[in-house]
Amino acid sequence: MKNIAIVGCGNMGGGHALAIGDGTGYTDWQIPQIIDPEIEAVTTDISKKLKLAGICDIDPVRQDWAKSEGWHVYPTLDDVLADPNVDIVLVATPNHLHAEIAIKAMRAGKHVLCEKPVTPTSAELEEVLKVSRETGKVFFPRQNRRWDPDYLLMKKVYDERPLGKPLSLENRIGGGGASAPFGWRSFKKYGGGMMLDWGVHLIDRILLLNPSKIKQIFCQVININGTDVDEGFNLTLVFEDGFIAYIESGAGHYDSPAPAWRLNCEKGIAEAEAMTGEGAKLITAPPRGDFGATHSALPTRKPTVMRGEGKAWGFPRGGGIETPLERTIFDRNSLYRNLVGCIEGDEEQLVTGEQALRVLRVMEAALHSAEINSFVDFE
Ligand SMILES: NC(=O)c1ccc[n+]([C@@H]2O[C@H](COP(=O)([O-])OP(=O)(O)OC[C@H]3O[C@@H](n4cnc5c(N)ncnc54)[C@H](O)[C@@H]3O)[C@@H](O)[C@H]2O)c1
Repeated sequence: MKNIAIVGCGNMGGGHALAIGDGTGYTDWQIPQIIDPEIEAVTTDISKKLKLAGICDIDPVRQDWAKSEGWHVYPTLDDVLADPNVDIVLVATPNHLHAEIAIKAMRAGKHVLCEKPVTPTSAELEEVLKVSRETGKVFFPRQNRRWDPDYLLMKKVYDERPLGKPLSLENRIGGGGASAPFGWRSFKKYGGGMMLDWGVHLIDRILLLNPSKIKQIFCQVININGTDVDEGFNLTLVFEDGFIAYIESGAGHYDSPAPAWRLNCEKGIAEAEAMTGEGAKLITAPPRGDFGATHSALPTRKPTVMRGEGKAWGFPRGGGIETPLERTIFDRNSLYRNLVGCIEGDEEQLVTGEQALRVLRVMEAALHSAEINSFVDFE
C-alpha cells in the first residue's frame, strides 16, 4: 500500500481524489466504462494499492470541497513534502508548474505521478528525468488514454491484422465547440494549447501502435480567436515503414467527427467512435470484380458511370461487409496498478519518461512544421 498526495485538486486532481479516495479508481473521465461487469471482474482493486494521504491546492474553494469530502488538506506543497507518510506526489496543476513540483518532490524522496503533458517542453522533461535518475525515484507520466476502449480496439486490429497490413490511420477528437481552449489552456505561459492537451494522448497512442521511426512530420494549426496557442491542429506523421497517421483535434470542433477512428488496411477499414469505441466494426472490402482488368485496358473515352445516372463517378462508399468488433476487456486501473507495481519493483514501468519525451519532441517538431508551413524531417 502506498500513500499518495495530490497537488492541484481541480478538475483532474479532483477526479483522482475521488478515484483514490473512494478506492474505485473511477475518475469522471471513465464514466462510459462504469457499468461493465466483465471489465470490473479483471480490474485491480486499488483500495489495496493506494491510499489518499490528502490534497494541496492554492484555491480555497477547492480546499473547502476537499474538506467536505473528508480528505486531509495540506496548507502548502512544503507540508506535503515534509510528511514522511507520503510516498507518491500526484501533480495535477496547470502544465507550467509540473516540472518544478516534480523535481522538488523527487528531491524530497517522493515518487511522482505527473499529469500529461508532463512538461510543456522536452528540455524541461530532460531536467526532470535527470533528477529521477539521480534520486532513484519513479517519475510516471500519466498518459492514460492508452487504456481507452476505442484505442484498445484499434490496437487489436493493428496488431492482429484481420484486414491485412495497416496502411494509414485517421484519428479525430473534438473539443466540444468551445471558442478556444478553456481557462489557463488558452495561454502559452501556462502550457496551453490543444497540442499540449489532446495532442499528448493522440500522439502517445500512435507511437505505441507503430514502433517504427517517424520519417517526416507535417502540421497545420488553427488559431481564429487570437489566443497565443494552437486552438486546434491537423497533424500528419509519416513512418519509416510507410504507415501514415493523420491526427486532428480542435477546441472549436463542435462535436467529435465520426468516425473518430478509421484504420485503413489492405482488405478493408476498421472504425470506432471516440472514448467508448461504440459502433466499432471491421468493414471488409467487397470483391474487386474486374476493376483491375478494365483499368489496365486502353482508355475508351467513356466514363465508367455516365453522368445523370444518379451515381457519383468513382468508387462507391459502402458496400463492404460489416463485422462488429467485440469490446475489449481490460483492467481499467492498469495505470494506478503499474505505478505501485514499479515502485515496489514488481512490474516494469508501462509509461516511461523516455516515451513522454518522444511525444514532446514530436509535438515540438509539429508546431515547428506549422510555423514554417513545411514538412520537417524527424528521427
Ligand atoms: N490525463 C487526462 O486525461 C487529463 C484530463 C484533464 C486534465 N489533465 C491534466 O491535469 C492537469 C490539471 O488540469 P485540470 O483540468 O484539472 O485543471 P484545473 O484548472 O481544473 O485544476 C488545476 C488546479 O491546480 C490548482 N493549482 C494551481 N496552482 C497551484 C499550485 N501552485 N499548487 C497547488 N495547486 C495549484 C488550481 O487551483 C486548480 O484547482 C493538467 O496538466 C491537465 O493537462 C489530464
